[in-house]
Amino acid sequence: MSKTELVSDEALEHRLKHHLERRELPDAFLYTGNHGTLNWLTLESSQRFPVAATLTSLLKEHARSIAQRIRNCRDVVSIGAGDARKELILLEELLHFSKPRCHIVDVSSRMVDEALKTLSGLGLEITGTVAFCEDLGRLAPDWNRPVLLCLLGNSFCNFDPAGLLPLVGNNLGPADLFLLDGSMLPENEREVARWRREVERIYNSPENVRFNTAPLVRRGMDPESCGFELKLVGVDSPWGQTYRTQKRIHVLKRAVVQCGTDAVTFAAGDVIEMGFTYKYRFAQLRQCLERHGFRVAESWPDRTGGNIIILAEHATTETEP
Ligand SMILES: C[S@@+](CC[C@H](N)C(=O)[O-])C[C@H]1O[C@@H](n2cnc3c(N)ncnc32)[C@H](O)[C@@H]1O
Repeated sequence: MSKTELVSDEALEHRLKHHLERRELPDAFLYTGNHGTLNWLTLESSQRFPVAATLTSLLKEHARSIAQRIRNCRDVVSIGAGDARKELILLEELLHFSKPRCHIVDVSSRMVDEALKTLSGLGLEITGTVAFCEDLGRLAPDWNRPVLLCLLGNSFCNFDPAGLLPLVGNNLGPADLFLLDGSMLPENEREVARWRREVERIYNSPENVRFNTAPLVRRGMDPESCGFELKLVGVDSPWGQTYRTQKRIHVLKRAVVQCGTDAVTFAAGDVIEMGFTYKYRFAQLRQCLERHGFRVAESWPDRTGGNIIILAEHATTETEP
C-alpha cells in the first residue's frame, strides 16, 4: 500500500481562503482534515441521513452482477472514495474473478487513510492519492487498462456534467468502464412535490446543517451566525427539467474565519454559495451521458426507481457479443 499527496493541507487552506474571499464554500472542504472526515463518517451512518446507506445497500444487492460485468478490468480507480466501504464490497466480489489493482483518490488525506485501512485485508495492490477529481489527467498515465473508474455515493450528481464528463471521457479508453450511482428524481410527475418536501427535510436536518456549517464553525464562526438554507430548484437542461439543490449560508453577524495563517472577514448579510447535487431521471442521465460520448452499458435501479447504479462506456466501444 502506498500513499501520495498531490495536494497538501497548506495548499487546501490557501485554496479555501480564496474561495471564502469570493463567498464560496465548495463541498470538497466539508470532508478535509480530521474533523471533516469524522463529520462525514458520522453523517454517513446517521439514520436520519439515509442517502449514503441506501446507495450502499443497492450496491450490495447487485455487487455480484456488477463484478461479472467489470471482471476484465485490470485496475479499479475510485474518485472521492470516502472510507471505501463501497469499493470493499465491489472488490470482494471481483476477487472471485480477478486480482485488480485499486487506486483510491480523495481530496481528504485523512479519508484516504480510512480507505486504505478498509481495504488493507484484501491482499491487493492498493494506492491512495490525495488529489482533486480535476487532477484525473495526472493520474491516468499510471493505470493498467482496461480500467474501471468509479464515482460512487451520489458523487457524480455533485458535479456539473459539462465539466466532469469531458474530463472522464478524455481519460478513459475504448475498453475502459465508468461506474456511477445516483439518487434520482421520481419518474412520476405527481410524486415530485412530495419528493421535494422529503429531500428538503432530509437535507435540512440538524445533522446535515452541522455537517455543512462545520468548516466555518471549526475555523472560528459562531454557529449562531450561520443561517443555512437548502432548497431544490428546477433547472432547464437539454434533456428537460431536472432539479438541483441550492445551498447557501447566510452570515447573520460579523465573523472572522481563520484559514491557516490568514483570516477572512464576513459581514452580516454576506451569502456564501455552497456545492450542489443534481437530481435527474434515468432517461435524462442517459441522454446527458450520450451527449458527452458515453453509452449506458448496464444499469441497476432499485425497486422504487429512486436510486440507480450505472455502468457506462465510450459510445464508440463495440458491445460484447
Ligand atoms: C459524499 S462523500 C462519498 C464517499 C463515498 N464515495 C461513499 O459512497 O460513501 C464524497 C467524497 O468525495 C470527496 N470529494 C469531494 N469533492 C472532491 C473532489 N473535487 N475531488 C476529489 N474528492 C472529492 C470527499 O472528500 C468525500 O470523501
